[in-house]
Amino acid sequence: MQAAVGVQSPPAGLPAGTRAALTAGLLAWYRESARALPWRVGEGVAPDPWRVLVSEFMLQQTTVATVKERFADFLARFPDAASLAAADLDEVLHAWQGLGYYRRARLLHACAREIRDRHGGVPPADRERLRALPGIGPYTAAAVAAIAFGEPVVPVDANVARVLARLFAVEAPRARATAEIRRLAAGLGDHRAPAAVAQAWMELGALVCRPRRPRCGSCPLATFCLARRRGIETRIPVAGSGRRRPRRHGFAFLMRRADGRILLRRRPVEGLLGGTMDLPGSSWTAAPPDGPPPFPRPGRWRPLPGRVRHPFTHFTLELAVWQGEVEAEPGEPGWYDREAMAGLALSSLTRKLLRHAGIEPPPAVRGARRR
Ligand code: ADE
Repeated sequence: MQAAVGVQSPPAGLPAGTRAALTAGLLAWYRESARALPWRVGEGVAPDPWRVLVSEFMLQQTTVATVKERFADFLARFPDAASLAAADLDEVLHAWQGLGYYRRARLLHACAREIRDRHGGVPPADRERLRALPGIGPYTAAAVAAIAFGEPVVPVDANVARVLARLFAVEAPRARATAEIRRLAAGLGDHRAPAAVAQAWMELGALVCRPRRPRCGSCPLATFCLARRRGIETRIPVAGSGRRRPRRHGFAFLMRRADGRILLRRRPVEGLLGGTMDLPGSSWTAAPPDGPPPFPRPGRWRPLPGRVRHPFTHFTLELAVWQGEVEAEPGEPGWYDREAMAGLALSSLTRKLLRHAGIEPPPAVRGARRR
């Protein structure tokens, strides 16, 4: 009998033997194929909840490849909640360079302070109290609870949602499928190896059950997969409305003074890229600009060819860059040479803009600035 439209055999209704075989197949595959990632520990080794929490903050909106690069340095600098709570926000933003979506760095800072002030310096051990911390939504709470504290839940991110949608042939469009997928996941937590099972679902989505060309030939669950059985695996998940991410447009101004220094400004702490250093620019508009911008100060201005595109969650930003040789008062703050830029939190957008103008930004921090 079908329990819901487009879904056969929800996990709660799976015969116990099938569910056990599914989990066993998944775990065997994970133990063999999991990537060694710096925040992962071997089975049987107790994970450090702080490391798990930081990794999940980073992985919310940054790829595994980038987090892998930056994790060890960040943790060397902030090995526990107390050290991060004691740091000032500037230092945290600086250490967050290259990870993008700086709002998370501010929330992690607030989260560390709450962990210090209300939880004795250690992240609380259950989903509900984790969820009450700044920056922790249902997914991150479930991931930390499963991985660090062994709660038998399967956290559902985009990867896991896709795996479950295919496995159980959920054919509703993405938005409507969400509740169904959550219900399916709720039946799949594992009491014996909760941390490994939670990560195994994520890993299967990342390595095998990929968005475009799923590698069904290497999938430990291929024999259970309803989408594969019906030959519809590449049609699932069903896209939503298919609306393109909207564009916003604006100008960035690369101002150089006679000694080659460049003018940077700090973005307001609240808001996109909050607290990071940026090239001055115009406001961003839905319509592309018509003609040259009003320049922020007199000088010899010229447009650089091309545009710089930068994706944000809800829109893609497209900036035209103008370069100007300008005058500056001696002692005016905000002018930096490349060496001085090494001490700043440069967002990846700023790095892109500098490269567009032929300036190679200094490498993102490697634990350089200490107090
Ligand atoms: N994405 C989100 N959390 C993850 C984790 N713990 N391991 C790999 N990818 C992830």
